[in-house]
Formats: sequence, C-alpha cells, structure tokens
Amino acid sequence: MKPLRVALLGCGVVGTQVVRLLEEQADDLAARVGVPLELAGVAVRRRDRVREGVAPALLTTDAENLVTRDDVDIVIEVIGGIEPARSLMLAAMKSGKSVITANKALLAEDGATLFAAAREYGADLYYEASVAGAIPLLRPLRESLVGDRVQRVLGIVNGTTNYILDQMDTHGAGFQEALEEAQELGYAEADPTADVEGFDAAAKAAILAQLAFHTPVTAADVHREGITEVSAADVAGAKEMDSVVKLLAICERVPGPDGADRGVSVRVYPAMIPRGHPLASVREAYNAVFVEAQSAGSLMFYGAGAGGAPTASAILGDLVAVARNLVGGSPGPVEVTYASLPVLPMGDTVTRY
Ligand code: HSE
Repeated sequence: MKPLRVALLGCGVVGTQVVRLLEEQADDLAARVGVPLELAGVAVRRRDRVREGVAPALLTTDAENLVTRDDVDIVIEVIGGIEPARSLMLAAMKSGKSVITANKALLAEDGATLFAAAREYGADLYYEASVAGAIPLLRPLRESLVGDRVQRVLGIVNGTTNYILDQMDTHGAGFQEALEEAQELGYAEADPTADVEGFDAAAKAAILAQLAFHTPVTAADVHREGITEVSAADVAGAKEMDSVVKLLAICERVPGPDGADRGVSVRVYPAMIPRGHPLASVREAYNAVFVEAQSAGSLMFYGAGAGGAPTASAILGDLVAVARNLVGGSPGPVEVTYASLPVLPMGDTVTRY
C-alpha cells in the first residue's frame, strides 16, 4: 500500500498539533483512508528553532520546492496571511496536489483565485479550519445543507473578543484590563487588532456567506465594527436590561418587496442580546453559530473556535476527506459560487435574534 505523502506549510501552534495527531493517530488514519498518511516535510521560516515532536530532518525553509515535489500528494497550509500562502497553494494545485488550508484572511480576500485554480487543475481545496476552529460548520453548509435554502447564519465566531466581553460582563472589567488578561492567557495576540477590530470575524463572515448563499462575498463587503469602543458602562447598562454584549457575525438574505432575494447583508458588530438567548450563554473563548434554513429549520453549532488541537482536529478531518478522494477517485472541486447576489449596505437588514 503506497502511502499518501503530506507536506505541512507552517509549524506554529496549529502545525505542531497536526504533526502530533498525524503521528499519534497514524494507525487509525490509515484504516480510515485505506493507505497510510506520511509526513513528507514541514516548511518553516527558520530551521534553528526546536519544534517539539517534529523530526528535524523533516524541516525545510524551501516551501516552493516542498509544495511541488513529486513525492508530495497533499499540502496543508497553516502559515496564514496572503503571501506567500497564496502563491504556495496555487503552485501546489498546479502541480496536482490537494490543498487544505486554515487561512480565513486569504479565503475572504481572494478565495476566487484559489477556487479558480482548484477548478482549473481539478484539485481538492478544503478549509474547514478557517472558520470556528473545531466546530464542523463549513462542511454542513457546503454539503449537508446544499439542497436547502439557507436564510441566515448568525453567531459568535471570534473567541478572543468573546473572552474579553465575557470578562467585562462577569467581573465588570474594562476593555483594556480584559484585553490584557486575554493576552496573558494566550487568547489574544500581542497585536490584537485583527480580533478586537473585527477583521477576523469579518473574514469568517465572508466565508460563511459565500457558502450559505453561493455568491461571491469578500471581507471588504462586510460591514465591520469591533469591540474597542465597548465600555464597562455599556456592559453594565446591558446587564441592567438583563442583556449581554456579544460580537455577532450576521449573514442573511434580504428580500425585496416581491419576496425574491434583493441581495445579502453581511455584518459584524457588538450587539446587545437578551440573557435568555442561547448565544448569551456562550462563555470564555467559545464560538456558537445558528444556521436557519428553509426546510431544515434552526440549527445550532457550538464548540471550541480556536486553539492548536481543536483547529488541528478540523484539519485532520479535511485530510481524511481529501485522502479518501485520492484513494477512491476524487469527486473534484466543489463550486462555491453560482449565484450573484449584491451585498447590501448597512440598513438593509431583516434580523431579529
Ligand atoms: N483569533 C481567532 C479567535 C482564532 O480568537 O477566534 C481563531 O480563528
């Protein structure tokens, strides 16, 4: 049984967990795929840093070479950012590899280029880990609900801001104090801009809207407000009204007067929600997302939205899926968009929550 060979781009918090799971679960993964999965190489920026559990011989700084090597079948990208991640994934697909990525920023900014390449080269492109970490959410939208009509996707998709707002609600902390605590605990980055200004949630909202409504949506289309202006007084005021402040991502169809879709609305902002609402009980750095579909009704997805092991779990799920496709005959790339609904400005919304 010829093994399938996996190249890993990036070996940070998520990458090291991918390596660990590949090794620890090697027998189970081989049984589930039908052939063993073998790590072919790990591309890193510097080889002199020790990475626990990663054989130094596997490390390389030549990512361009790794993704096009003949002995590599599948490429996993966990570098993040736009470049060099985009060029590496395009090169991988061009040379016939299946690609798995957790890169929400790239998918939200220029997913169209990646999807076009997947189509052109017949490559699998899977990205479950890009939104809501461990929570299976993209595959249900892309596959299980593809025969339904999704009306709305609404939820908490950024763990860092949820942790900060939860601390403000529970302990009456100010934004700055709660942010510093989140940084000390490793939830927030040293530069927390992407999380606290809502860029991370906006990228995830764009990806969710693309899949839910089969229409092109980029991060630039998303109305975005972060939580930096939310004060201790705002949170206390919400508390007095038996409500809680949460950073929500909302994607929904907006009907015109004739009932037909006029467009979609995609937005991220801090909102006051009643304490009895299920989203109000999402604590710490957890995520939760509601999907409302015409026939399926309301569905709720809840779990760990970030972290090395939870994100690696989503990547391993994608890995088994693309490996099975390679072993059994690939179903080919999945078209993400086939409608073209305008993304409407703020004000054109229909949400109640
Ligand atoms: N910074 C992100 C969050 C990580 O806090 O949710 C997962 O995408």
